[in-house]
Amino acid sequence: MEAVNAGPVSGLVEVPGRVNLIGEHIDYHDLPVLPMALGRRIRIAWRALASAELRARSASYPERQFRLDRAIEPWPPGDWGNYVKAAARAALGKWTLARGVDIEIASELPPAAGLSSSSALLTGAVLALLAANQIQASFEQLMEILPEGEHFVGTRGGGMDHAAVLAARAGCALLVEFAPLRVTHVAVPPDWTFLVADSLVRAEKSGAARAAYNERRCAGRRGLEALGYGSFPQALASAPLCQLRRRAAGLGARERECFLHAVEEAGRVRLAVDALQRADAALFGRLLNESHGSLRNRLQVSCPALEGLVALARSAGALGARLTGAGFGGCAVLFCLKDQAPRIAARLTRDFYGGAAAERIVEARPSSGALELIARAGGQP
Ligand code: GLA
Repeated sequence: MEAVNAGPVSGLVEVPGRVNLIGEHIDYHDLPVLPMALGRRIRIAWRALASAELRARSASYPERQFRLDRAIEPWPPGDWGNYVKAAARAALGKWTLARGVDIEIASELPPAAGLSSSSALLTGAVLALLAANQIQASFEQLMEILPEGEHFVGTRGGGMDHAAVLAARAGCALLVEFAPLRVTHVAVPPDWTFLVADSLVRAEKSGAARAAYNERRCAGRRGLEALGYGSFPQALASAPLCQLRRRAAGLGARERECFLHAVEEAGRVRLAVDALQRADAALFGRLLNESHGSLRNRLQVSCPALEGLVALARSAGALGARLTGAGFGGCAVLFCLKDQAPRIAARLTRDFYGGAAAERIVEARPSSGALELIARAGGQP
């Protein structure tokens, strides 16, 4: 293979998964969220190609290959290769890619578990394509293309996942604000910890959960528009919560509930950041529990397995427990003081997983996003 320019022709891109601590189903309304990156990652070994094609391999899925210099049409819904196609389309929408890339993907992230494995894959594939073409992209530039790029795969998600997997820092949660985009790193107190526990119910983003997810987004938006606001941040800036609640009472049930979830959850995020900064564990936990209640009752994105998991975790001593990610299955995030974690994990292992919990409960340490990993590696993926 011939190198077009000087620079590396192969390398490794690492992108972590994320767990959202609070601020669920509101990023797509441009409201703030508070995720953190996980220690578990997707690793993409890349090799630049002289030809304009993308070849993707992984131990778990069949090989996929397509040209970058022709229109990129999706494979049938559910095909994993669509994430790689989404990455290529997103990158091509902003940059000229003279070279193709061969990527080999290895993942420590369970798919469809609400830990953002799909956004990590999309982000990693974009970073690999850019690296193969020696293009340096800023966080802001990447955020211009990634959330939009993922819509190719079907979910009308927001930018939380991409922001988290890119910009998170070790030891910190990441406050992500949108319109304008802004990230703030908030240190997690050293005696706090989070467990991520799998409900064992799969929530395929590209499958059935997709329509249900998109429906929540649309209903919230319809509620907003019916009340005459142009955006959620504008609604929150122009009236106190009690007034928004009164105004929303006149909406249809679906619109009202989705609208109220959004504005109330945004308030909880602000309070949670405050609680984090003041190391107020009791308040932080209470806000997580309230978030879960709203996701169950107002937005209706929980399921019996998540309910069982969350209730058990609380009874075992978790200060807060909630579904994390889009819901409909996937994982719950459990918050506790570090010394309580073994007891909670043991109780879930016994009473939820029937004695065998390997890989189903992981202690989540706030970890580096892809950009911090690249910086540590000397700036070169
Ligand atoms: C999915 C989406 C995110 C976000 C969450 C719910 O993970 O990809 O953008 O909307 O659901 O908070």
